[in-house]
Amino acid sequence: MVQTTRIMVLDDEAIAEATLLVLAGEPVAVPTETVYGLAADATDAEAVARIYAAKGRPSFNPLIVHVPNLAEAEKIGRFDKLARDLAEQHWPGPLTLVVPLQEGAGIASIVTAGLPTIALRVPAHPAMQALLRATGRPLAAPSANASGRISPTRASHVLASLNGRIPLVIDGGATQRGIESTIVAVTDGRARLLRRGPIEVDGAEQLASNEIEAPGQLASHYAPNKPLRLDATEAGDDEYLIGFGPTEGDANLSQAGDLIEAAARLFDLLHQADAAPQPRIAIAPIPGEGIAAAIRDRLKRAAAN
Ligand code: TXA
Ligand code: MG
Repeated sequence: MVQTTRIMVLDDEAIAEATLLVLAGEPVAVPTETVYGLAADATDAEAVARIYAAKGRPSFNPLIVHVPNLAEAEKIGRFDKLARDLAEQHWPGPLTLVVPLQEGAGIASIVTAGLPTIALRVPAHPAMQALLRATGRPLAAPSANASGRISPTRASHVLASLNGRIPLVIDGGATQRGIESTIVAVTDGRARLLRRGPIEVDGAEQLASNEIEAPGQLASHYAPNKPLRLDATEAGDDEYLIGFGPTEGDANLSQAGDLIEAAARLFDLLHQADAAPQPRIAIAPIPGEGIAAAIRDRLKRAAAN
């Protein structure tokens, strides 16, 4: 979809405009101290699906959720003593903590890509802080670049790859750190480094370098526990069919064939199919480019499991 991308220099008016857009379910580009992020309401699945549509990302990865402070983070993730110590030491700042997700926190399942853990960060940059406070929402934000392009450290970098694909870029000048946040997982009382970044975390276990290069992969993506059959136009006797468009099923990703809606519902329906009495899952064809390809990529991985 082609649209006009506005650029507004960071001030109260820019934050007010970005707030309206975020609350209307649109992603906006906003600077953080690491790189510019493409931020959307993490409680609104379709808003998060629009991040993927804008980036043209060929696959779903779990995203980092930004919150204004540790108290808000603790409403979404479960922090043990180790996680709280790290947060108190480094927040606000370029550290992301992966912790168990709190049930019922209201985070859309497309944000965590169906995982039982969540990546949380309290950014230091005044622009992202102001947007978090004005919207009152946790904000999911990957780097604000088209898929396969380098991370943006200036508003002009965002425009170079996302012009016409998002409604607004807040221009806060060059980012201070220039590389993405350090990611540390804190589960079962252990801290493990998942991505190197601006902060060194004492005591975090290091992973092999091949694992570090693909942090999204090592998160062992959510996959259903049952066999999954792709491109199904009808259900076998022992199958739970996830429909799409005209292919009706036990549930439908989007009766209207809307890909944003389908992406938004994907992980919820996979979980639903997993919990259903049928021992197998089938899913209708999802034709098309862009976000349809991201959905198919995700399903292919789940089917190969
Ligand atoms: O500096 C940053 O972190 C920037 C700014 C905008 O905050 N954001 C960023 O987001 O780099 P993104 O989406 O490009 O990177 C998110 C990383 C991915 O490598 C993803 O696999 C990992 O975080 N991640 C997210 N949730 C995870 C989880 N539950 N378990 C393991 N890894 C996770
Ligand atoms: Mg990125």
